[in-house]
Amino acid sequence: MTKMKTVLSGIRPTGQLHLGNYFGALKNFVQMQHEARCYFFIADYHALTTHPDPAQLHGNIRNVLAEYLAAGLDPEVATIYVQSDVPQTAELSLLLGMHAYVGELERTVSFKEKVRKHPDNVNVGLLSYPVLQAADILIHRADYVPIGKDQEQHLEITRKIARRFNNIYGVEFFPDSQAFENKRETIKVPGLDGSGKMGKSEGNGIFLADSDEVIRKKVMRAVTDSGPVAGEPMGEAVSNIFTVLKIVSTPEVYDDFLARYNDGTIRYGDLKKQLAEDIISVVSPIRARIEEIKADDAYLHKVVTEGAGRARASADATVSRVREIMGIKPF
Ligand code: TRP
Repeated sequence: MTKMKTVLSGIRPTGQLHLGNYFGALKNFVQMQHEARCYFFIADYHALTTHPDPAQLHGNIRNVLAEYLAAGLDPEVATIYVQSDVPQTAELSLLLGMHAYVGELERTVSFKEKVRKHPDNVNVGLLSYPVLQAADILIHRADYVPIGKDQEQHLEITRKIARRFNNIYGVEFFPDSQAFENKRETIKVPGLDGSGKMGKSEGNGIFLADSDEVIRKKVMRAVTDSGPVAGEPMGEAVSNIFTVLKIVSTPEVYDDFLARYNDGTIRYGDLKKQLAEDIISVVSPIRARIEEIKADDAYLHKVVTEGAGRARASADATVSRVREIMGIKPF
């Protein structure tokens, strides 16, 4: 039997999850939790680099946690925790920082972008952001990290630090953590603003916490065109609407609207009305579950406490070994 792989995913507590997250990454996480040893955590230390309002940080963490749980992450199966509940991460970050070079951190694209956008807040936490991320990953010695393109450089830095550590101390301790390559087909949900995939930007995303009314409004505002033209291919905006319809509706409904598009009798208003109702059928039970979980303090407390307990056990084992390797010994 091959050794079970460890997968780790982190999310910053900013913003809300949208349909694209739900049908994309989250559906995969829900599957994956049964196939690998999974850690899902909320990166609140990382969020501090951009100085969130202290009065809002906790609520944001709660939101993400409730959304993760409502979408099907199972705290009985995976380890779900809040980063700051595992302060060993901060110690590992300090220790790994001895093997991260200022030059390479300064050259990180995400850092340069922050410097450009917020020249008044170039703090040490921003510079060492990738070191903290390396600590997140290496503290559980994760084999795989499911990430988007924008995080590839951070993972590359993680590998550099890990290899350097292994070389300098002559150990084979840290793994060569890889981006998680999904073998399953990942559903890509397009946005409703005419082009590109669904994201957080206004008008383009439907959030899991959106009310029925908000969903209807957003869908009715979706970009279309002036109608089908015989012999011409479907434009991107309308094609995106059909793609979302295919994800949330029945094949019969989808085929019916496609036929009406093809014979030129379609009315985009009807298409949007149908799409809105079918999105609502998907979102409203999830939204209800989010609300239910958010109102259940005892449950949330239990989830994060148990998650932190398991994450700390794994973190302690790693940090003890790293201290020993680096020469820190008990008297
Ligand atoms: N930097 C990641 C982001 O902005 C969040 C993150 C923090 C993370 N630590 C991580 C992602 C560890 C994967 C692994 O999306």
